[in-house]
Amino acid sequence: MAKRKKLKKNVLYYSLGIIILLVLAIIFGTKTYKEYKYKQTYEYKLIEHGYSLENAKELLNYYKDNKQIESILNIPRNEAILKLIQEKYYIHKNLERYLSYLEKNKNKSLNDIIAIVNVNRDYEFYENDISTNSSDDTLLIVNKYYKLDENFEPNNLVTINNNYAYENNKITKDANDAYVSMWNAAKNDGYKLIVNSSYRDYKEQEDVYNNIKMYKGEREADKVAARPGHSEHQTGLAIDVFEINNQLTGTFKNSPAYTWLKENAHIYGYIERYPEEKEYLTGYSFESWHWRYVGLEAAKIIHEDNITYDEYYAYYIENKI
Ligand code: DAL
Ligand code: ZN
Repeated sequence: MAKRKKLKKNVLYYSLGIIILLVLAIIFGTKTYKEYKYKQTYEYKLIEHGYSLENAKELLNYYKDNKQIESILNIPRNEAILKLIQEKYYIHKNLERYLSYLEKNKNKSLNDIIAIVNVNRDYEFYENDISTNSSDDTLLIVNKYYKLDENFEPNNLVTINNNYAYENNKITKDANDAYVSMWNAAKNDGYKLIVNSSYRDYKEQEDVYNNIKMYKGEREADKVAARPGHSEHQTGLAIDVFEINNQLTGTFKNSPAYTWLKENAHIYGYIERYPEEKEYLTGYSFESWHWRYVGLEAAKIIHEDNITYDEYYAYYIENKI
């Protein structure tokens, strides 16, 4: 009888022992599995890459695309990324260029670094021409990197009425309609605008550029004139506009008509293309007279954000394709 009791007791202890072992195995197994799972997460990988938990969370909050996180893991840890992603005009595909430009220009603001790289100014002018996408229509871009084909001619060119321009000035129909509205509004406010140059074909631009180059040299010519194929005047969307009483390139910037244009042109879809203090982005000296038709939507953003058309194009057009 006593033997039986003992046996029962032993079975009970063994069973209890097994149960405890099982529970421990489950607890330990679950923990190991959870750890294994966590090690698969990008949070863990970012921390392993050197980011703090907080920074890893910020990166994951910003990047919803796994491919982009992978690309962050493929470059050395850099805390500047955390600041760059907070900038409005940050474009992920340019990240490595931002970082390398920043490395060489530590005194520049991140805002400037982003703008400079977005408009390609970390590259030399005219070294690798990119073909302008002519289907961009009123939003097409032409600058020292984007080039129009020699034979490109805008559709719907119309001659600007002689009340608003000197003889034989042509722009596209949309640009002309907008210019006429703007002309009337300026007139109501006391300014009589006048266009003295607008559409120029490739050959005409070649002559303009070569003439300036002949007496100023290439370096100076490049600050004030576009090389053929690189001029906005070939798009039929640009006007050189003055006021009847202020028609000098040297002084138009001080006229009330110029101030009027700065405040109002965007309402008609026009923007100042080569503003003062933006030479480091546009590559051209300030041209108070050169205005570009881009349509209402783009003009509003460019005006409100005080950005160049090059910056607008990089972020709102090219980046969205
Ligand atoms: N003056 C401007 C930049 C042009 O030649 O198109
Ligand atoms: Zn011009």
